[in-house]
Amino acid sequence: MNFESILEKTRTYHNFEETNVNESFIHDLIRNALKAPNHKYTFPWKYLWLKGEAKEKVANLFYESKKHKADPELGRDENFFKSKILLPEVIVLVQEKADDAFTLKEDYATLSCSVQIMAMHLRANDMGYKWSTGGATRDPKVYKILGLNPEKDEIIGFLLFGKSKNTPPERRRPSVKDVLITTT
Ligand SMILES: Cc1cc2nc3c(=O)[nH]c(=O)nc-3n(C[C@H](O)[C@H](O)[C@H](O)COP(=O)(O)O)c2cc1C
Repeated sequence: MNFESILEKTRTYHNFEETNVNESFIHDLIRNALKAPNHKYTFPWKYLWLKGEAKEKVANLFYESKKHKADPELGRDENFFKSKILLPEVIVLVQEKADDAFTLKEDYATLSCSVQIMAMHLRANDMGYKWSTGGATRDPKVYKILGLNPEKDEIIGFLLFGKSKNTPPERRRPSVKDVLITTT
C-alpha cells in the first residue's frame, strides 16, 4: 500500500471484532508513535496497554457511563456496551501535564501526531482504529484503576483498534478551496 491509499483508508471505525495482538506488535506500534515531532523534547507521553482485570473494570465503567442509552430490544444491552472496550485492543493515551499552558498545548499536539502515526500503522496492518474521548476517559475511577494521578497525568483518550468489518460513512471534509488562502 502506498501513502495515499493508507491515508485514504485511515478512518474512524465504530465496531470491532475480537482482536488480540502480541507484545511485539505493540512495541512496533509505540516505537513508531514515538517518532511524532516533540518540541523541546518534553516526552510528554505514556501509553497504557489495557489488559486483564483493569480492562474488565474499565469496560464496567464504560457501561455505567452509557447505560442510559441501553435498549435491549435493539441489542444495546450491557454486553453490547462492554464489548466496545473488550473486543478491540485498547491503549490509554496519557499526557504528562506540563506546568505552563503553552507547553500543555504543544505536548497535546505531540500526542495527537503520535495517534495519527498509530492510526496509519494500524491501517497498514489491516486494522481499524478509533480515538475515543467518551465520558469514561474523564472518570476519576478510571484514573484510580490505572494508578494515574489526575494532577500529573491526563487521559486524552482511548485508542481502540482491531479487525473490523464495518465500513465508515463517507468522509466529511471541506474542500481545499474552502480552507486554502493564498496571500498576495
Ligand atoms: C480528539 C478526538 C476525539 C474523538 N473522540 C471520539 C469519540 O469519543 N467518539 C467517536 O465516535 N469518535 C471520536 N473521534 C473520531 C471523530 O468523530 C472522527 O474523526 C470523525 O467522525 C471523522 O471520521 P474519520 O476519522 O473517519 O474521517 C474523535 C476524534 C478526535 C480527533
